[in-house]
Amino acid sequence: MLDKLNEIQKAALDGLEAAQDAGALESWRVSHLGRNSPLMQVFAGLAGLSKEERPAVGQGANRVKVALEAALVEKSGGIRRRDLVQLLGESRLDVTLPGRPVHRGRLHPSTQQLRRVLSILAEMGFQVYTSPEVETDEVNFQLLNFPPHHPARDMQDSLYIETADRGDNPILLRTHTSPGQIRAMREFSASNPKNPPPIRIALPGMCFRHEQITARSEVQFSQVEGLAVGQHITFSNLKGTLTDFARRMFGQQARVRFRASYFPFTEPSAEMDVECFVCGGKGCAVCKGSGWLEILGSGMVHPVVLQNGGYDPRRYTGFAFGMGPERQLMLRYRIEDIRYFWGNDVRFLEQF
Ligand code: PHE
Repeated sequence: MLDKLNEIQKAALDGLEAAQDAGALESWRVSHLGRNSPLMQVFAGLAGLSKEERPAVGQGANRVKVALEAALVEKSGGIRRRDLVQLLGESRLDVTLPGRPVHRGRLHPSTQQLRRVLSILAEMGFQVYTSPEVETDEVNFQLLNFPPHHPARDMQDSLYIETADRGDNPILLRTHTSPGQIRAMREFSASNPKNPPPIRIALPGMCFRHEQITARSEVQFSQVEGLAVGQHITFSNLKGTLTDFARRMFGQQARVRFRASYFPFTEPSAEMDVECFVCGGKGCAVCKGSGWLEILGSGMVHPVVLQNGGYDPRRYTGFAFGMGPERQLMLRYRIEDIRYFWGNDVRFLEQF
């Protein structure tokens, strides 16, 4: 019986030698390890053997089974490797070539800076409020105390998208984020016209001006506007808030100064400069020798604007400010040309 097992093993291994592909392997498996194979017949016949013979034959049959299975695994591994090598040869795939670099996506530098500004303002208690990029002349200018034909409109050359039939109220792309002040105040005051709630909001977004595109001016840019309205808000609050903002943005040692300025929608108005962080205030090309960099416009919300927003200027005061993330990036990274921001050149964008 044991001789017969040896013969079974030898015949099976010889047969395996001849199998050259996956199909041949499968039929080999069926005939040598399948239900009707001579080996399985031996297992089936164990019950008919004498008590003395049974253990030795059982163990022998098991040994053969284990040996055949192991031989099958090894042979099929060899065939798979051989097929792969052949495939690589035929398809002329050079597995030694370096891989293609994967370009990782990233946020646009303006978006990154916008988010830095917003997260600082959020820490200081300002909530984000968004308002439309397409505005009416009324909200973009008139309710902000720019009357029609007022010369201050020349500060912001506008892109009108519809002028016919709308008389003094054409539609335009917003020239600044300040119209959001009106929209926010109106929304808040509508909830309680007699006693409107205090406001602390940050208004981010794209603005558009009809400019000659140069290294210093673009037709689009982003802004972040801040607005605080409530009772007993003073100019000291404006200065304290913006000084704190500058320290959080540019470092605790950052020094700032306020210069009197003019905007139709704030009175008094001021621009804020930070000490040039390139030269430390000594004067250099970035600050044009002055030692200071202008970073935002601000002021106390004009009583007419409060009124237009639904807040009684005898009871409420407020301050507002507006700043440009691209301008901050240009100063921080000494970017000389604003056109890089919307030129979509990945060599520029990849650096952030
Ligand atoms: N909207 C002004 C601008 O675009 C900036 C500003 C905002 C000034 C709020 C004062 C208050 O230049």
